[in-house]
Formats: sequence, C-alpha cells, structure tokens
Amino acid sequence: MQADLVVVGSGLFGLTIAERAATELGLNVVVLDRRGHIGGNAYTEKEKATGIEVHVYGAHLFHTSNERVWAYVNQFTSFTNYVHRVFTRHNGEVFPMPINLGTINQFLHAALSPQEARDWVREQAGELAGTDPENLNDKGIQLIGRPLYEAFIKYYTGKQWQTDPKDLSASIIRRLPVRYTYDSRYFNDTHEGLPTEGYTAWFERMVDNPKIEVRLDTDFFAEGELGRARVLGQVPVVYTGPIDRYFDYAEGELKWRTLDFEKEVLPIEDFQGCAVMNYPDLDVDFTRIHEFRHFHPERDYTKDATVIMREYSRFAGRSDEPYYPVNTDEDRATLLRYRDRVKEEKTILFGGRLGSYKYYDMHMAIGSALTMFENKIKPHFVSGEAFV
Ligand code: FAD
Ligand code: NA
Repeated sequence: MQADLVVVGSGLFGLTIAERAATELGLNVVVLDRRGHIGGNAYTEKEKATGIEVHVYGAHLFHTSNERVWAYVNQFTSFTNYVHRVFTRHNGEVFPMPINLGTINQFLHAALSPQEARDWVREQAGELAGTDPENLNDKGIQLIGRPLYEAFIKYYTGKQWQTDPKDLSASIIRRLPVRYTYDSRYFNDTHEGLPTEGYTAWFERMVDNPKIEVRLDTDFFAEGELGRARVLGQVPVVYTGPIDRYFDYAEGELKWRTLDFEKEVLPIEDFQGCAVMNYPDLDVDFTRIHEFRHFHPERDYTKDATVIMREYSRFAGRSDEPYYPVNTDEDRATLLRYRDRVKEEKTILFGGRLGSYKYYDMHMAIGSALTMFENKIKPHFVSGEAFV
C-alpha cells in the first residue's frame, strides 16, 4: 500500500489517529509496531489453559468523564458495568482503599463519624503543621498524619520507587486522598467499565478497514524497506514511540519506571476474592497482586483454576518497557531540549505517552489523539495546511 500517513505505534494514541484518518479522510494509513500485537500497553490476551483474559502489561481499567471520548470508544465496543475497587493487606488484615472512613474505623477499631475522623487525621497531621516538607516522607505525614501514612503509603511508595521515601522528592505527591465516607469506589468518573468482548476485540475493530495496514514486528528505526529512511521526509508521520529514542538520545535519556510481572495459574477457583490487592508492608517485595477473573464476574470462567499476577516496580534501563515517567527536574529540562528539536521536524508529529513523556490514562491518550486529528491532521489533508 502507498501510504498517505505512517503511524508509528499501535497503542490507543496511534490506533485513534489511524482510525480517524482512514475513516473520516479516506487516507491510506500504515501502522507500524515493533511488538507482535496491536494495542500497546493496553493489550490483553487469553491465558491458554484457562481462557481468562490477562492484562499483559498491567491491569487496565477504562474510565472517563469525557463525553467525546466515551461516544468515540462506544463505536467499537460496549462496556460492562464493572466498578473498580482495591483492597490492601497490612499487618495480616485487609482494608479497603483508597483510604476512606471504613479504612480508618477498621484501623482504629472505632466507629468515628466523618467529622470525628477528619479531626483525628488533622490532629495526626499536626505533627508537621506549618513546615515545608522537602522529602516525600515528611510530606506524607503532613498530609494524612503518621499512622495512616506509615501503614498504607510509606512502604508501598518505597517499593514503587525502590527508594526510601526520605530520599524521594516531596513533589512526587501533591495530595493523598482520604474520603470521609464509606465510598470505596476507585474512580470518580461518569463512565467506567471493561470492554465486553475484551480489549483485543475493541482494538481490532478500530483497524478493521481496508485503508489501514498494520505491520507488526516492525521497528521504525530498523534499516531496510520499512525502515525510517524510506519514510522520513516523504510521508507525514505520527510517531508515538519514545521521544529521546527518536533523536538518538542526543539530549540525554529521559528516565522511566518499569514493572516486572510474575504470572501464575493456581488450581483453585478464587485466590483473593478481588481484582487488585495492594501489599504495603515490607515483608513481601511485590507491590500488588492482580487476579484477572474478577475483572469479568459476568463471564463463565472455569472454576478449576485462576490466574494471578504479582507486580514489582523498579527504575527502567534502556531495554526495559518504559511505564511511568520519573519526571525529575532534570527530566523536565531534558524534555524541553527535545521539544526544541521537535520544532525542526516538518513532517512528523509526536504524540502518546512515550512521544510526550507524560502519563496518560487511556481516555487521555484517545482524547489527545482526537485533538491532534482535528487540529493538525485534518487541516493538512483537507485544506493543505502545514502538517506540523
Ligand atoms: P502505548 O500503549 O505505549 O503504545 C505505544 C506503542 O508504540 C507500543 O505498542 C510500542 O510497541 C510502539 N513503539 C514504540 N517505539 C516503536 C518503534 N520504534 N517502532 C514501532 N513501534 C514502536 N490507563 C487507563 O486508562 N486505565 C488503567 O487502568 C491503566 N493502567 C495502566 C497500567 C500500567 C502499568 C501502565 C503502564 C499504563 C496504564 N494505563 C492505564 C495507561 C495506558 O496504558 C495508556 O493510556 C496507553 O497505553 C497510551 O497509549 P499510547 O498509544 O500513548 O502508548
Ligand atoms: Na491500572
């Protein structure tokens, strides 16, 4: 296919661009992905022995309050009425998360009213009132008081960053939400659910168009017919890979955290009774355990086995999957230098979480791609405006 537009990366950002360009503008779009599947980090697959849908790159819950995004995604899939809730296992006891009145009362073996709980938290937080904490540990104590912070946040955060919170910047957390009701719903968005027939069916429908050609196991930077040289300067490109990689790390490396996942099939029906259990204590080195059957209670999954996945967190090396931007002052300065370089590129647009060095939820990646389509791609192909 002679491409009118090349999209590098088949995550939700790239898929949205490709779908819009092909469906609305009738363009021939070639999508490249170096992985062997579409969908980027939101990709899931059926575990072979059990048929249970496993989120390969970490649990993905869809939620949005953006009506434009909600209408858009509903063209390709319906959503179940799944409501996400998280629990946390501390000191041999299980508590509801995020921290709410139920958590506090269980923690104190008490029956505090909302106002009494507020007063108690304020009193505890008073330990560092009026100070300007520089490290995350002091900030945590100042926000919610030492008892809740040390039970549920301190070591969990320490494990996430593989760093003692005393050595982490206070800027990592702006707030630690505490709810003074028994509402333990994880997300507050208008719309929430999981794709009824799974993420893969959703993504396949987005590219189910003869005008879209997907080339898997194809790295944009690889030499050869499909490689960068052939594409650059000849066809407009939307690039959703890492921005520093695009410029051969000339301005330095942007730092990321990555996750390691340890999947296990157990010969029991139910391991933990919920989808996600946090482990905020130091006696285990993983941060949480996912149990995938609980994402789809409406499905008729086997009762003979269940699939769990332990999650470990650490800093990413260059060959690891980049998951969460570390975003230090140094990273932000590096990013600005790359943004200057981006201005020199006349045939390439950068987007998505890797191309922007920014954490995006799925609905944000889709929303941002729809905006790029309306503001840049459509004006270029419809009215001949400059691509970049
Ligand atoms: P990606 O999905 O990362 O896609 C980028 C694609 O580009 C990849 O497929 C990659 O292989 C490809 N690529 C990169 N370089 C090249 C190259 N040189 N050549 C060819 N292809 C290349 N969002 C939610 O809304 N809810 C959640 O619960 C949620 N949980 C998450 C959990 C984790 C652990 C992570 C990391 C993210 C989570 N997200 C969640 C965010 C969600 O994954 C992102 O919003 C989404 O992946 C963004 O899509 P993207 O297209 O920007 O990037
Ligand atoms: Na998640």
